[in-house]
Amino acid sequence: MKAVSILALIGCVATVVESKVYTRCKLAKIFSRAGLDNYRGFSLGNWICLAYYESHYNTTAQNVLDDGSIDYGIFQINSYTWCRSGTLQQKNHCHVACSALITDDLTDAIICAKKIVKETEGMNYWQGWRKYCKGKDLTEWKKGCEVS
Ligand SMILES: *[C@@H]1O[C@H](CO)[C@@H](O)[C@H](O)[C@H]1NC(C)=O
Repeated sequence: MKAVSILALIGCVATVVESKVYTRCKLAKIFSRAGLDNYRGFSLGNWICLAYYESHYNTTAQNVLDDGSIDYGIFQINSYTWCRSGTLQQKNHCHVACSALITDDLTDAIICAKKIVKETEGMNYWQGWRKYCKGKDLTEWKKGCEVS
């Protein structure tokens, strides 16, 4: 009895920490509803392509860079300029905790990504986008997805 409840508890904890990886179409829907389609002229395909090459749609993706800063979440937003992680000298332009950029709820990550696009050189901020999405025909990325 006891062992069972302990196992159940471990199961719950494991579920909480588990990373969320969205499907392409689920992401297309979320992005579309959040007003990303054609935001600053970037079609939905650009956003899906960007998310794929930056994080493979993994909301909890984190990568430490050479300078010690960390890229967070589905859009791999960097802690040095854009969010607050409490460890480095930071600008926190998005006025958000970096930890809020790696949750299943993409609201904060989307708001911050919009700010980046608006205040820097569009999507050029992202290497993944420059390398694999920029200037390409991106209609395939939302193919078969129902976006409203
Ligand atoms: C998502 O990213 C986290 C953190 O980097 C990693 O631990 C996890 O294995 C990734 N999930 C998948 C399905 O790749």
